[in-house]
Amino acid sequence: MRRAVPFAAALVILSGAAFALDDGGYDWPLPDWMPRPPVPDDNPMSTARVELGRHLFYDSRLSGDGTVACASCHDPARAFTDGRKRAVGIHGTVGNLNAPSLANVAYLPINAWANPHMTSLEFQALVPLFGEAPDEMGATGQEDRIFSLLADDPYYAEAFPQAFPDRQAPDLFAVTRALGAFQRSLMSFHSPYDRFKYGGDLEALSDSAKRGEQLFFDHRFECYHCHQGVLFTDNFQREGSPWVETGFHNTGLYSDYPANAPGRIEITGAPGDAGLFRTPSLRNVAVTAPYMHDGSIPDLRGVLAHYANGGREGHANQDGMIVGFEATEAEIADIMAFLESLTDETFLTNPDHADPWPENHPARINRADP
Ligand code: HEC
Ligand code: HEC
Repeated sequence: MRRAVPFAAALVILSGAAFALDDGGYDWPLPDWMPRPPVPDDNPMSTARVELGRHLFYDSRLSGDGTVACASCHDPARAFTDGRKRAVGIHGTVGNLNAPSLANVAYLPINAWANPHMTSLEFQALVPLFGEAPDEMGATGQEDRIFSLLADDPYYAEAFPQAFPDRQAPDLFAVTRALGAFQRSLMSFHSPYDRFKYGGDLEALSDSAKRGEQLFFDHRFECYHCHQGVLFTDNFQREGSPWVETGFHNTGLYSDYPANAPGRIEITGAPGDAGLFRTPSLRNVAVTAPYMHDGSIPDLRGVLAHYANGGREGHANQDGMIVGFEATEAEIADIMAFLESLTDETFLTNPDHADPWPENHPARINRADP
């Protein structure tokens, strides 16, 4: 299996004792109309954890050579993507997949393009840290050095015990929990479309975007079958609901998916899973180019051309909803205006998500930024 997590690291995670704290008074940055996401029992939200997680997210000392942080591939100004076709990790290693947005990631039951077993943010963090195919942060074998660096940092010396009162020193359990808490705080629900749809502000959208919304939900285009619900994806979970939705589809990009990114078949081995990828959310999609699991489409116009054509190369597993359509230039412009209305500027510039480290701090001085 590609992007495998070393067994020892997985054991550390699973053996971390579940401990019950209450919500720590955490105030979710959510509008009234949005339910809360689920939170794992062993990682209750608290402001202290979110803040610690933010510092870790931007700290390149977590990588094998001190140059790669989570933020090296997940840049807030691009809704936590990196502008590259495929992600570039430690020593310039080019991976197989495009770095997805982290906006509203707390609501996604699966945190990967194609791995249906990647069901928690805490577990996901092990992939960039320790995964070796491809190498992203290259921390394998460096754990002791990295954790003692963290222990020696004056900020962490206070922040770890505050966030994890019953743990003595920074360790993998606390690091992955804090990163999970920070990522659950990355809420994006203040786009013009939200003001229009949920805030009753009829002026928030242009007429073109309003027409584009109608087209997006029209049977001729079929977009909403997969890009549905509040996140514009058929992947969704919420607090207190036993109902978890997970949608994977083949959009006909390749007649034969390449071995380095074959889709869900890589994990399940089932032929029917060849070329199936998780439907991405379309929130902030205008700032997350290039597109698709391998970044192979440079812009939104190209994505629409792909769908108009009924897939690029076509594939035996291609979803029945991807049938192609004819549209005027004005209609394409309207759908693009609608997609652009999903950009939440407050999310891209939210100071609560920004790099907390002072310039020249060892946490960021060698960090490769996208
Ligand atoms: C080298 C670039 C790179 C680095 C560094 C990196 N990521 Fe990612 N990230 C990716 C790619 C590529 C994917 C898609 C992986 C997949 O689908 O298997 C991804 C996926 C994710 C996802 C799943 C998002 C979703 O839509 O569900 C999360 C969460 C995430 N990364 C968090 C992190 C965290 C936390 C760190 C730091 C510990 C990190 N990433 C470091 C490139 C990177
Ligand atoms: C059958 C389900 C399905 C339908 C119908 C569908 N999509 Fe998608 N969409 C997906 C999947 C799955 C992906 C990712 C495919 C991949 O990377 O291989 C995707 C990717 C995208 C992306 C790229 C997002 C990113 O972050 O890379 C955009 C934009 C998009 N779709 C818009 C649309 C529009 C507009 C329509 C209607 C014309 C539409 N989709 C119809 C399932 C669907």
